Amino acid sequence: MANRTGATVSMDVGDLRDDSTTRSDAGNEDARAPVFQVDDLSVYYGSFRAIRNVTLQVEQQQITAFIGPSGCGKTTMLRCFNRMNDLIETARVEGCVAYHGVNLYEPGVNPVEVRRRIGMVFQKPNPFPKSIYDNVAYGPRVARMKGDMDEIVERSLRRGALWDEVKDRLKSSALGLSGGQQQRLCIARALAVDPEVILMDEPCSALDPIATGRIEDLMEEIKTEYTIIIVTHNMQQAARVSDMCAFFTTEVNEKSDTRTGLLIEFDRTEQMFSNPSDERTENYVTGRFG
Ligand SMILES: Nc1ncnc2c1ncn2[C@@H]1O[C@H](COP(=O)(O)OP(=O)(O)O)[C@@H](O)[C@H]1O
Ligand SMILES: [Mg+2]
Repeated sequence: MANRTGATVSMDVGDLRDDSTTRSDAGNEDARAPVFQVDDLSVYYGSFRAIRNVTLQVEQQQITAFIGPSGCGKTTMLRCFNRMNDLIETARVEGCVAYHGVNLYEPGVNPVEVRRRIGMVFQKPNPFPKSIYDNVAYGPRVARMKGDMDEIVERSLRRGALWDEVKDRLKSSALGLSGGQQQRLCIARALAVDPEVILMDEPCSALDPIATGRIEDLMEEIKTEYTIIIVTHNMQQAARVSDMCAFFTTEVNEKSDTRTGLLIEFDRTEQMFSNPSDERTENYVTGRFG
């Protein structure tokens, strides 16, 4: 996309629709301001507090991994970055998730536009029961994106590292693809609307090691153009793909006998795996817990 400016430009809060602020030009070295600044974030489901007091930053064109035991709130946390928690009636967010300086939970922010800029890929590949072509074209059509649809579809499938495998069968059903291909299609579908950020919730957990490797390679290839947050229960995967890593765990609330997730450590992945500063992180990354 032409005319991308630095991401430090403040966002039009009213509609989150100013296309010139969505992504920095590749190679723009001073565009290192965080994409997200999370401050004192807590999320409740009804009266149950699922995560509490999380503060962290997500840097541009980096892969940030969220790790931690099941139930510590990784998915809950991820959903806060594109207002997917809005779709859960009981969910309530406290604190601030600022995207280029704009609190996503501020009145007037348009969640549809938020989700265009901040796309999501789910644990289980979920292609629509449509053709491969129509899966990728779906978002651009809804968003009334300008440009030649065939080109948009091809470009997206290339970015999703799927083009060569499907270029002769674009009109075939997406449901005929293998699990790994379906997940790359879902990534291509997410990329088709030209987001800045991709949120991935355990995107490889339903895939075999070869399909997993292809997704990891793909992440590496696209990270110069996108900011990626990945939830993974696979620590080797976090170590392989991520630049930054956040370790969450749960604490037990004696009174209510519930568990609340909290952020224990957030650091460069290398540091976190080689020399963690918290004993709980060390126990987890060395496999003694979780
Ligand atoms: N839609 C929901 N309604 C009520 N509780 C939920 C909902 N989704 C998740 N939870 C609870 O919030 C906590 C964190 O869940 P989740 O974010 O899915 O953790 P993780 O992804 O780390 O396994 C868990 O106790 C879970 O049962
Ligand atoms: Mg989860």
